[in-house]
Amino acid sequence: MSDRRPGRRAHVGTDARTLAWRVLVRIDKDGVPLQAALRSALDAPDARGLEDRDRGLATECVYGTCRRRLWLDRVLAERIPRGLPSDVEVRNALRLGAFQLLLLDRVPAFAAVSTTIDLVRKVRGERVAGFVNGVLRSLERDPPSRLHADRWAHPEWLVSRWATEPGVDLAARLAANLAEPPVSLRLHPSVRSAALPGLGPTAQPAVFVVQEGLSSHTVRDWVRQGRALPQDPASARVVEWVEARPGHRVLELCAGRGVKTSQLAETLGPSDLLVAIDVSAAKLRDALRLVARWAPTVHVRALAADASQPLPLAPHVRFDRILVDAPCTGLGVLRRRPEILWRRTAGDIGVLAALQRALLTEAARWLAPDGVIIYAVCTTTPEETTQVLDHARNALGLTIERAFDTTPERDGQDGFFAARLTRRAP
Ligand SMILES: C[S@@+](CC[C@H](N)C(=O)[O-])C[C@H]1O[C@@H](n2cnc3c(N)ncnc32)[C@H](O)[C@@H]1O
Repeated sequence: MSDRRPGRRAHVGTDARTLAWRVLVRIDKDGVPLQAALRSALDAPDARGLEDRDRGLATECVYGTCRRRLWLDRVLAERIPRGLPSDVEVRNALRLGAFQLLLLDRVPAFAAVSTTIDLVRKVRGERVAGFVNGVLRSLERDPPSRLHADRWAHPEWLVSRWATEPGVDLAARLAANLAEPPVSLRLHPSVRSAALPGLGPTAQPAVFVVQEGLSSHTVRDWVRQGRALPQDPASARVVEWVEARPGHRVLELCAGRGVKTSQLAETLGPSDLLVAIDVSAAKLRDALRLVARWAPTVHVRALAADASQPLPLAPHVRFDRILVDAPCTGLGVLRRRPEILWRRTAGDIGVLAALQRALLTEAARWLAPDGVIIYAVCTTTPEETTQVLDHARNALGLTIERAFDTTPERDGQDGFFAARLTRRAP
């Protein structure tokens, strides 16, 4: 469904909905993670003039459309005899229009439809705009049932899995995954005691939740100034469990962009050894930049390497504390990374569980006799949590001292699982 003609792709000026549409197209077409695509669009020069209100609307449209994408696609496909268009730009305009029309109460129906039509007209011309108009008008006249909306916003394999998993309140979990999570910030130790205005406490002493009324502009400023870092309390709890102290040699196997590395560095000194490893050199560069700002006295040694293979570290070195914040299916953070809803497949679980076992096996090789490993994932599947611990116990001879898990529906936090492992006898 496209009447693309040379020169037809007119420049579209940035307003909230156009920005949201561009982000949705990029996520769909290039497979970019939502957070990265949205951040780069909001930071782009042509978005600088956007008011906070418009930035908020664009953000709400991107997250809302992605959280409900599977349901929206189903609803749209029912209204289009030939199914959803293959043209990624038209498809995402339809999703965005339908999201605003059906799910965003504060946008009047005429605005949802007319802004979508204007956008499609600019990039695809009158004929395609007419088609989109017809589909959206049909949704407006005869709105679809919302009876199974939460369920159908999730892939069937996941719903079936949770429906039979002991202890899972399915309806509560589905609803929590689709809800807007609170914004929480880990404060820099230098401002923690004074507590910044507009923040409330969480279960983690270092993490505060942004209260209603505090502008996103202020939050962005704090982050830019190095006074705060977005982090969920459950993620911060993982690092607290490491109990890194001066004198410890600390190893982090999957450091990523360094959110947890910076927290580890808070309790270490200039002469302590902190080694950060990740398979991605680009992420490690970000991690180094972050720690250099957050804890400038701590010297991080970064190594880009596949940590599921023998690591090229000095053969005699052993670590008192090892954090394995392993790559995982991310099913505990769907509310923050909704693209997982359609990117993840059931087959990924086994692949990732094998990688997690390999990472833990390598971690165990570098553990000092009295050392501690914290194994963590932001997911809830038994394969990636308790079954990895079975491997730690049975194949690696480690002792599971304690473990915790959190879920959005029970704790209001991201879904994390973490365990403290040692070589000590129980
Ligand atoms: C859960 S994320 C880590 C998040 C990070 N610890 C933080 O708090 O910001 C998992 C990380 O594992 C990395 N990774 C994936 N496979 C890896 C491997 N084989 N060896 C080392 N790192 C790997 C990914 O690049 C990703 O950054």
